[in-house]
Amino acid sequence: MICRVRFGGCILALCLCLAAAASPITHPSEVSALRAVKKQLVDPMNNLRNWSRGDPCTANWTGILCSNDLGDDGYLHVLELQVLNMNLSGTLAPELGQLSRLRILDFMWNELTGTIPKEIGHISPLRLLLLNGNKLFGSLPDELGYLSKLNRLQLDQNNISGPIPKTFVNMSCVRHLHLNNNSFSGQIPPELSQIPTLLHLLLDNNNLSGYLPPEFSNLPELRILQLDNNDFSGSVIPASYGNFSRLVKLSLRNCGLWGAVPDLSRIQNLSYLDLSQNHLTGPIPTNKLSDHMTTIDLSDNQLNGTIPASFSDLPSLQTLCLENNFMTGPILTDIWQNMTFSTSARLKLDLRNNSFSSIQGHLNPPVNVTLRLEGNPVCKNENLLNVDLFCGSESGENEMLTNLNNTTANCPIQACPRDNYYEYVPASPLPCFCAAPLRIGYRLKSPSFSYFPPYIQPFEAYMTRSLNLSQYQLSIDTYSWENGRLRMYLKLFPSMNNNNSSTFNVSEVQRIRWRYMSWTFPGSNLFGPYELLNFTLLGPYADIKFEENTKGVRKGVLVAIVVGGAACAVAVSAIVAILITRKAGQRQAMTRKRLSSKVSMKLDGVRDFTFKEMALATDNFNNSSQVGQGGYGKVYKGTLTDKTVVAIKRAEEGSLQGQREFLTEIKLLSRLHHRNLVSLVGYCDEEGEQMLVYEFMPNGTLRDWLSAKSKESPNFGMRLRIALGSAKGILYLHTEANPPVFHRDIKASNILLDSKLNSKVADFGLSRLAPAVEDEGTVPDHVSTVVRGTPVSLNPL
Ligand SMILES: *[C@@H]1O[C@H](CO)[C@@H](O)[C@H](O)[C@H]1NC(C)=O
Ligand SMILES: *[C@@H]1O[C@H](CO)[C@@H](O)[C@H](O)[C@H]1NC(C)=O
Ligand SMILES: *[C@@H]1O[C@H](CO)[C@@H](O)[C@H](O)[C@H]1NC(C)=O
Ligand SMILES: *[C@@H]1O[C@H](CO)[C@@H](O)[C@H](O)[C@H]1NC(C)=O
Ligand SMILES: *[C@@H]1O[C@H](CO)[C@@H](O)[C@H](O)[C@H]1NC(C)=O
Ligand SMILES: *[C@@H]1O[C@H](CO)[C@@H](O)[C@H](O)[C@H]1NC(C)=O
Ligand SMILES: *[C@@H]1O[C@H](CO)[C@@H](O)[C@H](O)[C@H]1NC(C)=O
Ligand SMILES: *[C@@H]1O[C@H](CO)[C@@H](O)[C@H](O)[C@H]1NC(C)=O
Ligand SMILES: *[C@@H]1O[C@H](CO)[C@@H](O)[C@H](O)[C@H]1NC(C)=O
Ligand SMILES: *[C@@H]1O[C@H](CO)[C@@H](O)[C@H](O)[C@H]1NC(C)=O
Ligand SMILES: *[C@@H]1O[C@H](CO)[C@@H](O)[C@H](O)[C@H]1NC(C)=O
Ligand SMILES: *[C@@H]1O[C@H](CO)[C@@H](O)[C@H](O)[C@H]1NC(C)=O
Repeated sequence: MICRVRFGGCILALCLCLAAAASPITHPSEVSALRAVKKQLVDPMNNLRNWSRGDPCTANWTGILCSNDLGDDGYLHVLELQVLNMNLSGTLAPELGQLSRLRILDFMWNELTGTIPKEIGHISPLRLLLLNGNKLFGSLPDELGYLSKLNRLQLDQNNISGPIPKTFVNMSCVRHLHLNNNSFSGQIPPELSQIPTLLHLLLDNNNLSGYLPPEFSNLPELRILQLDNNDFSGSVIPASYGNFSRLVKLSLRNCGLWGAVPDLSRIQNLSYLDLSQNHLTGPIPTNKLSDHMTTIDLSDNQLNGTIPASFSDLPSLQTLCLENNFMTGPILTDIWQNMTFSTSARLKLDLRNNSFSSIQGHLNPPVNVTLRLEGNPVCKNENLLNVDLFCGSESGENEMLTNLNNTTANCPIQACPRDNYYEYVPASPLPCFCAAPLRIGYRLKSPSFSYFPPYIQPFEAYMTRSLNLSQYQLSIDTYSWENGRLRMYLKLFPSMNNNNSSTFNVSEVQRIRWRYMSWTFPGSNLFGPYELLNFTLLGPYADIKFEENTKGVRKGVLVAIVVGGAACAVAVSAIVAILITRKAGQRQAMTRKRLSSKVSMKLDGVRDFTFKEMALATDNFNNSSQVGQGGYGKVYKGTLTDKTVVAIKRAEEGSLQGQREFLTEIKLLSRLHHRNLVSLVGYCDEEGEQMLVYEFMPNGTLRDWLSAKSKESPNFGMRLRIALGSAKGILYLHTEANPPVFHRDIKASNILLDSKLNSKVADFGLSRLAPAVEDEGTVPDHVSTVVRGTPVSLNPL
């Protein structure tokens, strides 16, 4: 066995080298598996033409992404297989099961037929299994339930039949079960209620029957329960559904349900309720629903009683549909009179075909209200002012996409290259900036609103912030609603600050594409899960070769730490040392976090801060105090009244968790003490805010030090010290902490340096502290990916 030269100098790395083989090649069983996979596919566009030449990992096979470093067995391993949108048909080969290190398996939007091979259930590291948008049939193998690391299962829009396997209860990390638009039948397994991480359960448009499991209300993280268009005839909506703790959307349209509408007033974040087209009876519960309600659709039932007065107190309401019921009493004009319509807001009130007999208040709603009353006794009251305005049959208005910031109206048409790949950037602050966009077909699968205009700006802000772009760089070219899903065609433009370059550079394209394809956007209650329909690389981007990115390399090394968690501290430190040495050619400097005062951290226990104290410490969360931004929220530098300088992590809306869970986590964190862990000073849980207060690390992150921006390189001694320190911190977490903590997100930006340049590990034990950050740090953050293959793979021309 030969040590690879790049380990050079680091004697400690020796024990690692024992495992390294001389020339990197893909594991033979994975090579033969890929060959078998290809054999069973029909590839009319010949997208996989180079799958027959050379070695998968070293000869750039289309859609194959490999580990960059040799595994413990001396081979390279396939980590991702992503061949979406390639017009592939044929079937999935059972040999897929031999790709034993695979983390992402993505065959979305092809024409595959046949059944899902049970062997896939044996790929234990699998995180994303994406087979939606094919023509798969047959029933699901029980073995899928053994994918204990699976985060996301997307099988929607196939024709898979049979029951949902009970074994799914063993997918103990799964957050997304998207099985909608198939032919699943039978009872929904109540066992699913034992998956503590479940966030989105989409089972709509199947042939499911039986009853709605009352236990689902125990799912601590569940945000969306969508079961529309199934047939649970004779079943009722369990009263326990009023106890959901985090639910945002409950959609049970056309499910054959009987009985009463349950009282859902205790669900704090409920925003979207659709119980239409059932056989529900009795009155609507009068208790006030959440202030977040945007949509209430109870139409086409047999409800009686009056409109609850509490409906006049729903400030975010967009849609209230009560048509085709047996409701009586007056129409409450307070519903709109009490609302302040922000720009672009509107309210749709559909009350047709009931027994409403009078109006309480004045019937002169503002233009932003659409009111429909036909088919009610009130329409026969000719003395009532204006009533005929609302009793005719009018067609619904359409949503209009008006791009208010479009600055291109007066730009000369001939000045922007007319080859279809370039266009004026609509919202560019610099008028007539001509650039080539990336084009993305995108769909919100289950948003928690029913009218987009008021949320367009927030959406643009959310998406561009998550991509680290400026808001003008995103343009929503078109959008349309499709049965409650919101399809969009997005264009992303390069920044005009980059010397007015009219294209993204390769690494930017790669970064953006990866972000969409790995589902690492921060979770959002408002927007819910998304689908990537296509990511088209045209014109100047068509020839992009995806190359190794240094980021991937570093992550790759780091994943080794996680995987080899049991190995000796020496080995770990060696890896970190290599990580640092690799960037040796680069320069470093201290970045923004420059500070002289010493942090006093030896606090007995953990302090409970008030919101006021936090606001004071950060000058009211002034932007100038912000030192970072994570999925969980913003990080501020703050100075407490006793002059202690601290880092304050403030949870964003959407990342908040229940108080009990929050305090439990604090308790857990407070037990972790080690000189190589960033220590927790306190927390704040007040005024709907959740913050964590840590000791401040004046010398920033290791990532800063290694970044290209830096001026001088850390010397060898320092590198070694950082490596050893980090290793000790990690070792403590893994082996000495009680209970042990699995870091899950070790990366250079989570290794911080204190004033004496000692390294400390940050962000440990936060797995559950960021519940709404759906997928932040699941697979890809830890995976070494050498991105290879064709960029156009996503959408062949
Ligand atoms: C694979 O891609 C890399 C980077 O583009 C290139 O340097 C290398 O020559 C390619 N290998 C083969 C066999 O095409
Ligand atoms: C590939 O798929 C696209 C859309 O899915 C279709 O328009 C096109 O005709 C297909 N091409 C071939 C060669 O099958
Ligand atoms: C889906 O599968 C069922 C049988 O499981 C079959 O009856 C039906 O025709 C299939 N639908 C489509 C669109 O292929
Ligand atoms: C879950 O897995 C365990 C062992 O891995 C197995 O014994 C059990 O039957 C599984 N549960 C279900 C419901 O399949
Ligand atoms: C799902 O199925 C329903 C009913 O068949 C259909 O109306 C809807 O368009 C489908 N949705 C998708 C995304 O295919
Ligand atoms: C409302 O409907 C329920 C159930 O159908 C019935 O028992 C009740 O008498 C009705 N109430 C009124 C006021 O009609
Ligand atoms: C709505 O307005 C009415 C008067 O128009 C008022 O009596 C009622 O308290 C208001 N409700 C809320 C929740 O503001
Ligand atoms: C009503 O909607 C229009 C167009 O969306 C908007 O310009 C206007 O400000 C809204 N009116 C009110 C009273 O909010
Ligand atoms: C912007 O305005 C121009 C010219 O009026 C128009 O051609 C273009 O479609 C608009 N773009 C968007 C995204 O609204
Ligand atoms: C990508 O998806 C968008 C949105 O559905 C669609 O408008 C566009 O035509 C698609 N592009 C390609 C190349 O399929
Ligand atoms: C559009 O303009 C408004 C105000 O003019 C601004 O607040 C908003 O950020 C702009 N949006 C974009 C995408 O630039
Ligand atoms: C495989 O094909 C893709 C394009 O389909 C190309 O980018 C890549 O370089 C090819 N690799 C080899 C080894 O030919």
